[in-house]
Amino acid sequence: MAQHAEKLIETVKKARVIPVIILDDVELARPAAEALVSGGLNVLEVTLRTPNALKVMAAMAGVPGAVVGSGTVRSAEHMRQSVDAGCQFMVSPGATPRLLEAAEGMAIPLLPGIGSPTEAMVAAEAGYTFLKFFPAEALGGAPVLKAFQSPLPELVFCPTGGISTKNAMDYLSLSNVVCVGGSWVLPADALAARDFGRIETLAGDATQLGR
Ligand code: 3PG
Repeated sequence: MAQHAEKLIETVKKARVIPVIILDDVELARPAAEALVSGGLNVLEVTLRTPNALKVMAAMAGVPGAVVGSGTVRSAEHMRQSVDAGCQFMVSPGATPRLLEAAEGMAIPLLPGIGSPTEAMVAAEAGYTFLKFFPAEALGGAPVLKAFQSPLPELVFCPTGGISTKNAMDYLSLSNVVCVGGSWVLPADALAARDFGRIETLAGDATQLGR
């Protein structure tokens, strides 16, 4: 579909922090998603970076209240798989013309990634006005998005990459930032230890950001 930025923004801004999830163990998917939703983070991005990512998405999509999107989407095949897994949105690290065109034919919207004004303008020309800014910290962080405000006033962003509780507010306080994404709310060591209480606490802390 065309992006329908307002609708996508409405979907993801239920929480201003989107956990970026890298998980392969399908058994952990449901309890991890339940912990995140209990903590207040109900919009979840599951990256296509593990062999079982699609199964993880499907398991998380079955958790009441969870809104699951696919991340690291780089092809039309990834998009079809995301729809079949029950995802409600998709996120890509970049925004190639072919990827943007493929997303037009899908039943769920795409949040495409950009890293520069030119890339943002190419995506905007294709109808995408809500963009992921990636990798945010490595590219200069919140000052870059602040610098985008005046020359690119029609665009809004979800920055990801190097964001944590320490710097999330630098982004969330900007008028062109809808939400931020990050993996800090679902640390690998907490998952390995099956410490879902800690995950819920981290989610609860993240939920308070930007309120
Ligand atoms: C990603 O897509 O990998 C996100 O940017 C997560 O980055 P982080 O692990 O630095 O939060």
